[in-house]
Amino acid sequence: MVVNSKIPVHVSIIMDGNGRWAKERGKERYYGHAEGVESVRACTEEAIRQGVRYLSLFAFSEENWNRPEEEVKALMELMVKAMVNELPSFLKNGIRFMVIGNRARLDSSLNEQIDECMRKTADCSNLSLVIFMSYSGRWDVLQAARRLALEAASDPARAEALGNMSADDFSRYLSTSGIPDPDLIIRTSGEVRLSNYLLWQCAYSELYFTDILWPDFREKEFDAALAEYAKRDRRYGKVK
Ligand code: IPE
Ligand code: IPE
Ligand code: MG
Repeated sequence: MVVNSKIPVHVSIIMDGNGRWAKERGKERYYGHAEGVESVRACTEEAIRQGVRYLSLFAFSEENWNRPEEEVKALMELMVKAMVNELPSFLKNGIRFMVIGNRARLDSSLNEQIDECMRKTADCSNLSLVIFMSYSGRWDVLQAARRLALEAASDPARAEALGNMSADDFSRYLSTSGIPDPDLIIRTSGEVRLSNYLLWQCAYSELYFTDILWPDFREKEFDAALAEYAKRDRRYGKVK
């Protein structure tokens, strides 16, 4: 396969601004989240058209558990509803669905739905759609470090090998193992921060910030981000 380096293999989006979008319309925050699902669909379809292989979306952070209970509940219900509604289109369009994050904090019915959706789309290969739920970058690095510590403690020979591990070896302990690092990270809504997202994996990502609120971020806005990416010169510390 010919890889066009101007098209990012992996686009990741911090989907922000749903609450403000709803507030601007005098509505409850929930309406913004529901409208945001439409943007997910639009960007997923556009990603496939453009030849992007991985689209990952920050849907709910570990810190988002601190939001009011009714908002958390509404977001979880929206997730279940969206998965059920979208499954036929995932299968039709060859979309592999994955969820990454601290799934122990999700309730069991949501986890069952996620498992079913992941299992049914496991052989789809047009696009991997990765949803980060109950995720934070520090949680990811920490869970990797904890597993490594346990492995080292259980076997002295293994401990010595782990003492010499490379960055690539370490990456295999992250929850994103097997998924290439994002080439492009987009954040909507005008905030210029990563909010504890993919901290290890973003080392050489191109960052793109836009004032557009997530429910207004559709095909045209996605293409504008790709056009900006195509102009970037990725040097990785070298001289060109
Ligand atoms: C993003 O929109 C969705 C989540 C973080 C779950 P927000 O809900 O953060 O919307 P704003 O930032 O308050 O406008
Ligand atoms: C980041 O948005 C998390 C997600 C988009 C899921 P937040 O709205 O939670 O981030 P902060 O609080 O503005 O940093
Ligand atoms: Mg926000």
